[in-house]
Amino acid sequence: MTRDEQKKQAAEAALEYVEAGAIVGIGTGSTANHFIDALARIKNRIDGTVASSEASALRLKAHGISVFDLNSVGDIPLYVDGADESNQHLQLVKGGGGALTREKIVAAASRKFICIADDSKLVDVLGAFALPIEVISMARSYVARQIVKLGGTPALREGFVTDNGNLIIDVRGLSIVNPPELERQLNNIAGVVTNGLFALRPADVLLLGSEKGVRKLGG
Ligand code: 5RP
Repeated sequence: MTRDEQKKQAAEAALEYVEAGAIVGIGTGSTANHFIDALARIKNRIDGTVASSEASALRLKAHGISVFDLNSVGDIPLYVDGADESNQHLQLVKGGGGALTREKIVAAASRKFICIADDSKLVDVLGAFALPIEVISMARSYVARQIVKLGGTPALREGFVTDNGNLIIDVRGLSIVNPPELERQLNNIAGVVTNGLFALRPADVLLLGSEKGVRKLGG
């Protein structure tokens, strides 16, 4: 079974959390795309969606699924999204696709966050995947210098602009022993919009596709 088939397996399993008549928060990336495609089969049972990126909004609309502005809906019962890494506490690294800020907003506005992934994403300690940080353009050098002081090695994601018109700095070499503390620390640097640690608001359930079927953590 390929990694992509495992992602699809996890995405299909997330369908059972979708409640009739509800608004569903939708993540970004290849695993979230599998979920969108699966959701299309039951689109008449839901009220609509809130998307965490322009790319996901386009895919949802192509399936004829309604996409609402977050400001026009209240709290969302369910958010489904992938991740680049998860630890056993369901604290995540996200943002490989550069949609971390909107993903974090939709996750924060959602009562339940189901993370879907292939089982290679489960790690003992976060940080092997470079941590994405969205920054305001004028602050990129300043933020990079602050990251070096914290022990990280920053690299600007070349040729990439987020849906919010900002830049991404990918950071390697940070020791992520206390994810909530580092998440706060990075967010406190002037010019940082948000960082890809999802530890203050971790996932509630992690569905991992694997050779042996879907494994569930949390919930
Ligand atoms: C996008 C994300 C994605 O959830 C993350 O990069 C995982 O992507 P994929 O499902 O393609 O493996 O955070 O910003």
